[in-house]
Amino acid sequence: MSTAITDIGELVTWEAEQPIRHDAALVVEDGRVAWVGPSADVPATDERVDAGGGTVIPGFVDSHTHLVFAGDRAAEFAARMAGERYAAGGIRTTVAATREAGADALEALGRKRLAELRAQGTTTVEVKSGYGLDTATEEALLRVAGRLTPETTFLGAHVVPQGWDADAYVDLVTGEMLARCAPLAKWVDVFCETGAFDADQSRAVLEAGMAAGLLPRIHANQLGYGPGVQLACELGAAAADHCTYLSNADVAALADTGVVAGLLPGVEFSTRHPYPDARHLLDAGVRIAIATDCNPGTSYTSSMPFCIALAVREMGLTPTEALRAATEGGARSLRRDDVGHLRVGARADLVLLDAPSHVHLAYRPGVPLVTRVLTA
Ligand code: NIG
Ligand code: FE
Repeated sequence: MSTAITDIGELVTWEAEQPIRHDAALVVEDGRVAWVGPSADVPATDERVDAGGGTVIPGFVDSHTHLVFAGDRAAEFAARMAGERYAAGGIRTTVAATREAGADALEALGRKRLAELRAQGTTTVEVKSGYGLDTATEEALLRVAGRLTPETTFLGAHVVPQGWDADAYVDLVTGEMLARCAPLAKWVDVFCETGAFDADQSRAVLEAGMAAGLLPRIHANQLGYGPGVQLACELGAAAADHCTYLSNADVAALADTGVVAGLLPGVEFSTRHPYPDARHLLDAGVRIAIATDCNPGTSYTSSMPFCIALAVREMGLTPTEALRAATEGGARSLRRDDVGHLRVGARADLVLLDAPSHVHLAYRPGVPLVTRVLTA
């Protein structure tokens, strides 16, 4: 089965020679990109889709979400907008609601949010556990996550649950909980932050996860300067996410090791922390990704276009750099080379925009430009 998408006003493929083409066409065969070229030269195919002169981009790769949870923290957001500060402990509110919800309700909530992401152009998504904080609930969350995506992350070490000593909880996470959760996850993650887990505890969690066959990623340097980024670089993590407070040594370590800095501008929007300087990171040679961090506490958005607009306006990126970070950057963060671009051989995960160029993603913030989402 082959399909040609014709009359593409602007086609973003991220090919080395010509990353962005005009008046182009693209052929999909058996779920893969089989041909890219000028619209006038398009070969015969079984089917045709007319892009109407609009823009075609790779589907967004959202490399950091917490989609599976119950409850609502709108009141916490409203209090922050009235001057309260964000603290990691708010996570426990969502834990209580999530433990009560039951697997069927959690799956329904996760699927609803996944549909929301997809409608806005996201075709690959990472989903974490982390609102269970006991073995049974963490395992249940990962079973639900695994029905939504192959990119599942064990985040039993999200925060220390009420009534627990931190080291005793790390023992649980690295012992019984990991043994039950590792078969259900690709990644292991930890929230390395004051109020959550310190450097030694975070190292213990990531190393145990790696020994169980999981790949490391980390929540690092979100609420203040700290050891998380250096730990990610030392362990060869795929990504250090947040990177809101970075020292010069942190920036140098990210550039040297190639650990992807996952930037989550929805968090700074929702917590009133300062936006990280993405311009400085790119200029220093750091690889970046943009993701939503969709979660009820610090960033309840499912919209990659919104995050792109914030990254352009507040973090110093050009619209093209922001789109690349939201597609190819996300793929690198997840160690995937089959998504995040539309070169020949890529998965045919692509998005049609009712816009003459991808610049409109940031130029027209909040406007639903996505008209069609195709997946392999
Ligand atoms: O990525 N930083 C830790 N975890 C989430 C926030 C979770 C919450 O407040 O519920 C984050 O920002
Ligand atoms: Fe997060």
